[in-house]
Amino acid sequence: MIVILLGPPGVGKGTQAKLLCDKLGFRHVATGDLLRAAKREGTELGRRAQAFMDRGELVPDDVIIAMVEELLGALDPEVGVVLDGFPRTVPQAEALAEALARMDRKVDRVLVLTAPDEVLVKRITGRRSCPACGSVYNVHFSPPRQDGECDRCGAGLSHRADDTPETVQNRLDVYREQTEPLVAFYSSGEAPVISVDGDQSVDGVQAELASAVA
Ligand code: AP5
Repeated sequence: MIVILLGPPGVGKGTQAKLLCDKLGFRHVATGDLLRAAKREGTELGRRAQAFMDRGELVPDDVIIAMVEELLGALDPEVGVVLDGFPRTVPQAEALAEALARMDRKVDRVLVLTAPDEVLVKRITGRRSCPACGSVYNVHFSPPRQDGECDRCGAGLSHRADDTPETVQNRLDVYREQTEPLVAFYSSGEAPVISVDGDQSVDGVQAELASAVA
């Protein structure tokens, strides 16, 4: 099964995708995480992506499409996938459909998370992440036990370079202009498009998402 998780920055895509994949044994493919890893490793991809990401703009379609196609092509076709942060534009969605057709696969569910902008801004500016084990915290909603320190592995927590109030507003604008049209794009296709209120507890959102893919 191929599941697309759509939604604005900070709505909880990463949080929910990890939980869903743990529960179902699916593979979590998060383009933002892949690009941040490439930045940390100083690869050519990371260098190309950095300026776009830091401004809150989308990385060019050709770069992203090549990265995701390579990754999907290497996966066991029997393994379910949750796509988090991809596709983000209509050309990316079209490229995904073509790549999946070549693999004799298709998109099976499109899950759309929603929340008011003020909730998104508070979540994003309060987010802290562990660069060592990937755990995600929030100073407002789910703080670590020790300020600035990962509960799971003890590493120092970091604040994403694109989580500043100015960049967040640009990311929200980019989402409305370039990514939200995908809801209409997929609504005319075969896969069910299911909207879930992301402005509830993590467990509440997860329960609705899990029943949407059951
Ligand atoms: P990406 O990393 O995908 O960022 P995003 O879409 O902006 O989403 P976020 O990671 O900010 O939020 P999220 O929805 O995953 O929320 P999270 O679960 O962390 O992309 C970053 C950049 O990479 C893009 O701007 C672009 O430049 C580039 N890029 C990536 N993919 C691309 C593509 N396909 N094409 C082109 N460019 C691309 O939660 C947020 C916070 O809220 C956390 O602190 C969490 O603990 C908390 N939280 C979550 N759920 C709840 C809840 N229910 N209640 C309370 N707090 C909660």
